[in-house]
Amino acid sequence: MAAELISGTQIRQTILKELGKDVEAMRQKYGKVPGLVTILVGDNPASVSYVTLKVRTALELGFHEIQDSQPADISEEALLALIARYNADPDIHGILVQLPLPPHIDATKVLYAIDPDKDVDGFHPLNLGRLLIGGDAVRFLPCTPAGIQELLVRSNTPLEGAEVVVVGRSNIVGKPLAVMLGQKGPGANATVTLAHTRTRNLADHCRRADVLVVAAGVPGLVKTDWIKPGATVIDVGVNRIGFNPETGKAILSGDVDFERAKEVAGKITPVPGGVGPMTIAMLMKNTVRSAWSYLEQR
Ligand code: GUN
Repeated sequence: MAAELISGTQIRQTILKELGKDVEAMRQKYGKVPGLVTILVGDNPASVSYVTLKVRTALELGFHEIQDSQPADISEEALLALIARYNADPDIHGILVQLPLPPHIDATKVLYAIDPDKDVDGFHPLNLGRLLIGGDAVRFLPCTPAGIQELLVRSNTPLEGAEVVVVGRSNIVGKPLAVMLGQKGPGANATVTLAHTRTRNLADHCRRADVLVVAAGVPGLVKTDWIKPGATVIDVGVNRIGFNPETGKAILSGDVDFERAKEVAGKITPVPGGVGPMTIAMLMKNTVRSAWSYLEQR
């Protein structure tokens, strides 16, 4: 039986519609809109394409949006000074520095320089610490894990007491997601296993999963017989496996063999059109949240 598709593209539209109403309510109440700056250093093609999508979505929502493109040879000092300027700008509620940064810039130093109250990527250690504490302490959730949690909740995937296996322990996806799904509360309460490249018998762990999240960056890593029949499979992999000269676009593949996996899984996300569109929606949600909290404090 073919699995039910969890469409990030559709769920994203629903979320953006909700956010659009929120932006309108903010405009009515305060005469202000959320402000987001996206800082792009250099011209890495993948980064350019991600930033373009973020800017387009922000503009569609009626945000005050600044796309700040800087040359690849900008000094670390100049980049830190730029961030300090946006930290002090009352019309900017969210600051995003697109990663990766060129090797002469210390990315950790840059991310730590962003005001935690404007850290809509959720990468600052203060916000990651708040995420670990959970509950009311949480300020900004990192966008990809937040998008995955939304996909699970909005597709009515049971999480309470469920066996969740997350493959991949990155700071951006695997680690925060494992913490989030294991927290006490709605959309969580799962029993989480965080698997990685040193995990013994990875296939056996995956086979136990009611919900399998794969964020390893290895095309086709998860084989069909690693999936428990009826499980929910979330594929976070975005691997460029080729180039289509006719469309001029990269050919993308996930970490899961989608065509075969959909015959075993109960629900599954496609690549593209699954987790990817959700990340940007969550960035917008964090920015709207940041703007409300700034305006309400004044
Ligand atoms: N590069 C790839 N993904 C991301 C992301 O979510 N945020 C930032 N800032 N850079 C990225």
